[in-house]
Amino acid sequence: MTAPPTVQLRDGTILPALGMGTWKMGESRARLRAEVGALVRGLELGLRVIDTAEMYGDGAAEKVVGEALIGRRDQAFVVSKVLPHNASQRGTVTACERSLKRLGIETIDLYLLHWRGSHPLEQTLAGFEALQRAGKIRRWGVSNFDVADLRELEALAGGPECSANQVYYALSQRGVEFELLPWHTSHQIATMAYCPLDEGRLTGAHPVLGEVARRHRATNAQVALAWLLHQPGTIVIPKSGRVAGVEENAAARNLTLTAADLAELDDAFPPPRRKHALAMI
Ligand SMILES: NC(=O)c1ccc[n+]([C@@H]2O[C@H](COP(=O)([O-])OP(=O)(O)OC[C@H]3O[C@@H](n4cnc5c(N)ncnc54)[C@H](OP(=O)(O)O)[C@@H]3O)[C@@H](O)[C@H]2O)c1
Repeated sequence: MTAPPTVQLRDGTILPALGMGTWKMGESRARLRAEVGALVRGLELGLRVIDTAEMYGDGAAEKVVGEALIGRRDQAFVVSKVLPHNASQRGTVTACERSLKRLGIETIDLYLLHWRGSHPLEQTLAGFEALQRAGKIRRWGVSNFDVADLRELEALAGGPECSANQVYYALSQRGVEFELLPWHTSHQIATMAYCPLDEGRLTGAHPVLGEVARRHRATNAQVALAWLLHQPGTIVIPKSGRVAGVEENAAARNLTLTAADLAELDDAFPPPRRKHALAMI
């Protein structure tokens, strides 16, 4: 078995490339226990990065994460996000303080602007910097930013400190490969691939995905995740609210795709040949 893939952040921090998402968690009381259990199991399996946001369930997903973190804070790298309409300088600080309370922790490891809104980026950055100085966040980044947005960000004082950009990236959604991912690499911005299973669509029947999976005695989900784990500098955050789903996804780290597998997947899910508008969910 090879060592699980890792990603190095600009400050030298090394993270396991496979983490967990939490969108739609905390929305049903009936699923709550299972969701907390799934996150706890993921932490046991070394899926350290937990991605959440104040938006998810109006804070309910952060509370699920908070439950999972009780007694295990040191095992996790917690990512949360500020909503664009809260992202003024003061609003960013108070949104983060509310998130910390729901999460039951002192510091968020990586705090992202969820997508661009109407507050000037300078203001959001000033909020991030104040939070860093106060020890409430360790580092900051963005989400759903295309190259033009990153250029604008880079030109601002402190802008080059951006640690990550979280974007929609999956086998079936490869537009970011054309221009955005090379930009990330050259500017030491980690890519966080959201909807890596295309919201579950990649787990359904597909002739090529199914054939590659059959050869490896794996599932379609595992092939889709292994393919993303093969992309350098990419943190992959599938969401599963079930222990079995998390265990299945964690096992994708043991799947090594061959050059032939990668070529077949490229034929079925072709890489972009031109710039595409950034896809967002
Ligand atoms: N920054 C942004 O704008 C943004 C946007 C979207 C998402 N995100 C983040 O990215 C994370 C991942 O995206 P996502 O949750 O939208 O989609 P996803 O991870 O691509 O897919 C999640 C769906 O796949 C199912 N699933 C997971 N593992 C499975 C498996 N092994 N077999 C079969 N089904 C499986 C889940 O159901 P079960 O729970 O029943 O397993 C769920 O319905 C989110 O949770 C969130 O943290 C960020």
